[in-house]
Amino acid sequence: MIVAIIQARMGSTRLPGKVLMKAGGKTLLEHLVRRVKRARTLDAIVVATTENLEDDAIAALAKKLLVGVFRGSEHDVLDRYYRAAEQAKADTVVRLTGDCPLMDPQVIDRVVSLFKKNQRRYDYVSNVRPPTFPDGMDVEVFSFKVLQKMWREAELPSEREHVTAYIANHPELFAIGNVRAKKDFSHLRLTVDTPADLTLISSIITAFAGRKNYPDAQDIVAFLKRHPNLIKSNQHIGRNEGYAKSLREDPKESVTLRKAVMADARFLYELRNEKAVKSASFSTEAFSFASHRQWFRKKLADRNSLIYIAKAGGASVGQVRFDARGKSAEVSVAVGDAHRGLGYGSRMVRSASKRFFSEYSGAKKIHAYIKPENEASKKVFGKAGFRLAGSKTVKGTKCIDMVLTSNSL
Ligand SMILES: CC(C)(COP(=O)(O)OP(=O)(O)OC[C@H]1O[C@@H](n2cnc3c(N)ncnc32)[C@H](O)[C@@H]1OP(=O)(O)O)[C@@H](O)C(=O)NCCC(=O)NCCS
Repeated sequence: MIVAIIQARMGSTRLPGKVLMKAGGKTLLEHLVRRVKRARTLDAIVVATTENLEDDAIAALAKKLLVGVFRGSEHDVLDRYYRAAEQAKADTVVRLTGDCPLMDPQVIDRVVSLFKKNQRRYDYVSNVRPPTFPDGMDVEVFSFKVLQKMWREAELPSEREHVTAYIANHPELFAIGNVRAKKDFSHLRLTVDTPADLTLISSIITAFAGRKNYPDAQDIVAFLKRHPNLIKSNQHIGRNEGYAKSLREDPKESVTLRKAVMADARFLYELRNEKAVKSASFSTEAFSFASHRQWFRKKLADRNSLIYIAKAGGASVGQVRFDARGKSAEVSVAVGDAHRGLGYGSRMVRSASKRFFSEYSGAKKIHAYIKPENEASKKVFGKAGFRLAGSKTVKGTKCIDMVLTSNSL
């Protein structure tokens, strides 16, 4: 049984009641369910909501739309998924969220098909690691066994609330597959978290009203290209802000470092593809996961290169890399989007630099070349003991040069 489980509740913090708000005369949840029903690979659809009274209306709507209903915990959404999947006798679970009314059923079919064809190879397949589809077309597929493993092992409140965060936090435990769009459309936002999002969705739904066929992802992207003004209103809202908020509420953990291993390839690939990391970097060309793996394999074998993975609360939160040449080395750091601003960056750089000096004999100096506009990076290196030493042009970009010497630690 392949079961799509749609999580939905009225008590959303940023836009309460959003799933039952209307666009083009129908609720957002109804738009979503009707589109999900057109997917060919699904055996059943279940709306998983909470036991709260206010969610009776969601349960009633799901019944009216002739899909399954499960009611469970509000904040332990992982538990809600697990029990919903158990009740529906799912062996494969497709995770969808109730705030994505323009979900494309063909995208669901592509993600499910990749998972079904590669069940021996992948534990989890999605189109979000890294994302290339518009935000609001996220599909994640995993087996009941993987869901059970997460349900047993995940402990952080953020991992209980954001069902698959445990997989993202433990790339070493799960083999991850990804479906990519033809081009990168991840900057487009078609999910609903704010009134501006709702206005955009309503405009799209109204524009396509009365057509026989539902607009698919391509139709919507083409429409937005023709109407660039429409997306201006909601473009500034970040992807996964809800997850970032949850992380801030997790108990604060100390950050630990370990040397990178091949199983970190996926984590580093995703990190490298994040917008802020790309724009801080000196080489911005796109590359496939296969070529990243090749590069990473070489790096791990290179004795002059040391890569540390930073972990906090069991999650991989970032990386620090040193490339040494003779007595000096160049350092680069990146913290995952959702984990930024929690103080990890400076702690990681400080302890990784100490380790580097003790593990790489002969090194006396570490340089950090930073783009002048990168205020967060300047602060992080400054707090880790690096001092301004001058400037340097790296691949045509003038940067500031901050230096840490071994005897200053
Ligand atoms: C730079 C980076 C590693 C910082 O990591 P982080 O864990 O978010 O940093 P911290 O939480 O330790 O914050 C360090 C300081 O920077 C400040 N800061 C964070 N983001 C900032 C921003 N966008 N603008 C200005 N200051 C910022 C913090 O407030 C903090 O200052 P404080 O201690 O005075 O409060 C992270 O933003 C990142 O990965 N960016 C993309 C990649 C990158 O720029 N790498 C560096 C290339 S040289």
